[in-house]
Amino acid sequence: MSASHFGTRFDYGIFATCMSAPKRYLITSALPYANGLKHVGHLAGAYIPADIYVRYLRAQQRDVVFVCGSDEHGTAIPIQAKKEGTTAQAIIDKYHQAMKEDFEKLSISFDIYHRTSAALHHQTATEFFDTLEKQGALQTKETEQFFDEAAQSFLADRYIKGTCPACGSDRAFGDQCETCGRSLSPEELLNPVSTLSGQPPVKKKTTHWYLPLDQHEAFLQDWILKQHQKDWRPTVVGQCKGWIEGGLQPRAVTRDLDWGVSLPPRIKGADGKVLYVWFDAPIGYISATKQWALDHGKDWTPYWQDKETKLVHFIGKDNIVFHCIIFPVMLKLHGYILPDNVPANEFLNLEGDKMSTSRNWKLDMRDYIQDFVEAPNGGPQCVDMLRYYLTQIAPETKDSEFTWKGFQEAVNSELVAVFGNFINRTWVLMHKLCQGKVPPFHATAKDEIDEELLKALTEAPQKIEALLEQYKFREALFEIIDLSRKGNQYMQKKEPWIVAKQIEQDPSAQTRIDNCLHLCLQLTANLAILINPFMPHAAKTLLHQMKVVEKMLQWENAGKVNLLKTGYSLRAPQLLFRKIEDQEILAQLEKLKQRTMSTPDTGSALPAEKSIAPAKATIQYDDFAKLELKTGVIRAAEKVEKADKLLCLQVDLGSETRTIVSGIALHYAPETLIGQSVTVVTNLAPRKMKGIESNGMILMAEDANGKLVFIQPAQPIDPGAIVS
Ligand code: MF3
Ligand code: ZN
Repeated sequence: MSASHFGTRFDYGIFATCMSAPKRYLITSALPYANGLKHVGHLAGAYIPADIYVRYLRAQQRDVVFVCGSDEHGTAIPIQAKKEGTTAQAIIDKYHQAMKEDFEKLSISFDIYHRTSAALHHQTATEFFDTLEKQGALQTKETEQFFDEAAQSFLADRYIKGTCPACGSDRAFGDQCETCGRSLSPEELLNPVSTLSGQPPVKKKTTHWYLPLDQHEAFLQDWILKQHQKDWRPTVVGQCKGWIEGGLQPRAVTRDLDWGVSLPPRIKGADGKVLYVWFDAPIGYISATKQWALDHGKDWTPYWQDKETKLVHFIGKDNIVFHCIIFPVMLKLHGYILPDNVPANEFLNLEGDKMSTSRNWKLDMRDYIQDFVEAPNGGPQCVDMLRYYLTQIAPETKDSEFTWKGFQEAVNSELVAVFGNFINRTWVLMHKLCQGKVPPFHATAKDEIDEELLKALTEAPQKIEALLEQYKFREALFEIIDLSRKGNQYMQKKEPWIVAKQIEQDPSAQTRIDNCLHLCLQLTANLAILINPFMPHAAKTLLHQMKVVEKMLQWENAGKVNLLKTGYSLRAPQLLFRKIEDQEILAQLEKLKQRTMSTPDTGSALPAEKSIAPAKATIQYDDFAKLELKTGVIRAAEKVEKADKLLCLQVDLGSETRTIVSGIALHYAPETLIGQSVTVVTNLAPRKMKGIESNGMILMAEDANGKLVFIQPAQPIDPGAIVS
């Protein structure tokens, strides 16, 4: 063994013996805003890493609670409501449900997914503010703020629009310019107007409560820059250092808005004011813990009050100041525990560009779910594939990039060709050469190659554990795949399929085959344990294949070489991961391109349920005149193979009959459509769907229940009449 090897082992030893395990863990993932679907950048930043860590802790049998929920008081939420022509309540209900579902479908295993609109949260947040206010920990200050006289309302930064002083774009808001990304204050905007009335706002006096961060500078200096300088990520400490050294200012924690958590009623002048969303949202972690405790007959208080609780916040880097500076000051003032670590991730780019909701350059979790997990050849393995790739490229130390090519390569050349291949070979050979049973291990025949594999197998868990404890998920995953790669190399050296040909002549041949497959099987059992936090479905499939119960996945079993008993019969191998085909990634690239071209600015909106506001920009008559619309009659209709939503229609347009593919199969049976009058867009460029060229589009309206209804002439008219 080399000196460096020895040194490394020694370090892990120290780690394992000196760190006594915390009594309990409280793990949080940033509460996502309930104003749109979340993309894979969010997933990679705050959810997958937290889920890996939590699954690892659970396998360690630790007392752990994993909380999250929707952040429902963002100022963008009432704006999104306006855009979708509905109420803020309808928006949060819709997106809360949608996000919850998406997280579940990607196996993010929260113990509770709560929401900040819950009464328990409002009460918790109001009380929190009350406690600080009573202590005299907050200050009040009168300032002048922008006010919309027409709407009789103070304006949140987001509600003021104007020209960006930096890039001159007229798409700048009071908090940020959408074009150049620069963060702004409303005072900096040129020609500001209110988005409520379109009028220039005026300044009006108002009183607010402030958290005097400047008074806590010494505490933050000591707590972050001294105590956590080594164990927090350099990127996190670096950002905090910047904030602290730049001089901390008192921060307003109330707003003049009607959307949010009310101030305590005992406070004079609290009317018409709410808590600043960033004051109430992190308290959401506390109210979620309370709700979880209520649901499970537990006591929530030790999770926030006992120093032996380890609190860890998983977030993206744009949330660092709130989780490392503002919330800790609030927690300290309230007498709660502080986070032990805040492993913030950098950003994930997509195909060479920043992921962006406003530009529609992103991959929503939901799109991946629909296109892969819920596709006919999908299933849970696709959940694991995404979790794998997003961990392999996790932006732990710097920004990183999602590319479809990279996804394909990770799946095909690592999951399929290395990890899956090792296990599949082991199983196939065990069935062929050992009657489908765990062969015995003949200790006397153990050789150097066996020793080498055994060493790798017994040392890996400690190494992986140390990496997980330091939130280095990317490296930990690499070690696991590397271990399976060693399994392949071992198999390659042992060549049991060649040895099998010598059985007649060589009496030791079966012994060698037994030893090889015995070790490969024990390695498989170990791989199941190690991979479980990252890819829980693969671990489950392996359990089934090995016919063992879930208990085997307990972390203490990692490194053991007697997990599968000699003579135990095992099931046939199952496919762990399928390959990603070229055409799948080409289709995704095309989709990305199409989306950015066709729908700028729709964001991550789900289809609106009822849209009353004009959602599209005004057009000129010339734009309308480009459309050719004609009346028609459906003469024939049939289902399109392998497409449950599509019907292929023959539409009579008087002078011609056109083939039109229409997405109405879920609404109408083909035979009921013969003779139906319709309105057709006849000059739409032809489009191929499921191999059929569609030449036009039938106009439909959607009723309140989502049913599609034909737009047809009120009186009988010949097919081919021009509609204008
Ligand atoms: N909603 C915020 C965002 O998406 C995160 C809130 S985290 C919390 O950036 F701590 F405030 F809850
Ligand atoms: Zn700008």
